[in-house]
Amino acid sequence: METVLITGGTGTIGRRLTQLLQEQGYAVSLLSRSPKPQPGVTTYAWNVDADELDPRAIETADHIVHLAGAGIADERWTDARKREIMDSRTRSTELLAEALRTTKHHVKSFVSSSAIGYYGGDTGDRPLSEHSAAGTDFLAKVTRAWERSVEPIEAMKIRTVRIRTGVVLTMEGGALPKLAQPVRLGAGAPIGTGQQYISWIHIDDICGLYIQALRNPVWSGVYNGVAPNPVTNADLTHLIAKVLNRPMILPNIPAFVIKLMFGELAITVLGGSFVLNRRLTEETTFQYKFPDLRKALEDLLG
Ligand SMILES: NC(=O)c1ccc[n+]([C@@H]2O[C@H](COP(=O)([O-])OP(=O)(O)OC[C@H]3O[C@@H](n4cnc5c(N)ncnc54)[C@H](OP(=O)(O)O)[C@@H]3O)[C@@H](O)[C@H]2O)c1
Repeated sequence: METVLITGGTGTIGRRLTQLLQEQGYAVSLLSRSPKPQPGVTTYAWNVDADELDPRAIETADHIVHLAGAGIADERWTDARKREIMDSRTRSTELLAEALRTTKHHVKSFVSSSAIGYYGGDTGDRPLSEHSAAGTDFLAKVTRAWERSVEPIEAMKIRTVRIRTGVVLTMEGGALPKLAQPVRLGAGAPIGTGQQYISWIHIDDICGLYIQALRNPVWSGVYNGVAPNPVTNADLTHLIAKVLNRPMILPNIPAFVIKLMFGELAITVLGGSFVLNRRLTEETTFQYKFPDLRKALEDLLG
């Protein structure tokens, strides 16, 4: 039985990934800042700020999935929070690289999360593939640095994959509960112009991608982790209302209100990007469970 070590595995994606890996016969271990006993999972401690990591996590792993990072939309972006968002991703990767350099291990693959924020938070309706240029805003800088921090691991001849993850749809966290709750209450409305694109993916599909990435020795480099068809914020909100069988009567929420509420973080809802899954389509046989948004929403909201 192979062991997959997940950093940040206590989070939204990590919890579902743990279940799916176990169903497929993998053993799962976690690296966490505050290890708690969890049935069927071994949890090791690390402290990125103090450069500490339990070496047993690395010694026992066949694959590593690196998801750890301070939540992008959890708090307003003060300078301190921005530093934490950056360091929790880059310094944690550096700590893993150092552990891989100094520990006897048999790790075959290193799959790192990245994000479609790589291209910039507001890129209009310009289609973006893995070959498109990086953006210049804060999240683009974070994701570039995050992807670059994986290079020393690649240089150790460990197969590395970076998944530029789209907006993950799940009711366990992230954007969907925040969009669905007002709709349920009859107060749903598109945000800003409503024309910003959301490059979404169902949680089971993003987890499926991580599993393929660690399992399939042909996968390497960067892949956009998004469903085949991005939608606008307005279309998504209307479809949520249809699936929940609720009316949509309110006008759009003006952009200035969102900016007042969220400051710089507002770009994560007012901005959008139209991201294509080009490498998945052209170079892999990956089968989505939910390529269709309506079916994804029925599964999650039903
Ligand atoms: N969900 C999405 O829509 C989405 C989209 C694009 C990219 N991503 C990326 O995918 C990764 C996983 O996403 P998620 O939604 O599962 O995130 P999440 O629910 O916020 O979980 C992230 C985990 O990272 C660890 N963490 C938090 N702050 C940290 C810090 N300062 N230093 C080190 N570790 C820290 C925590 O684990 P412990 O408390 O156990 O240490 C936490 O459970 C994240 O890096 C995220 O940026 C997610």
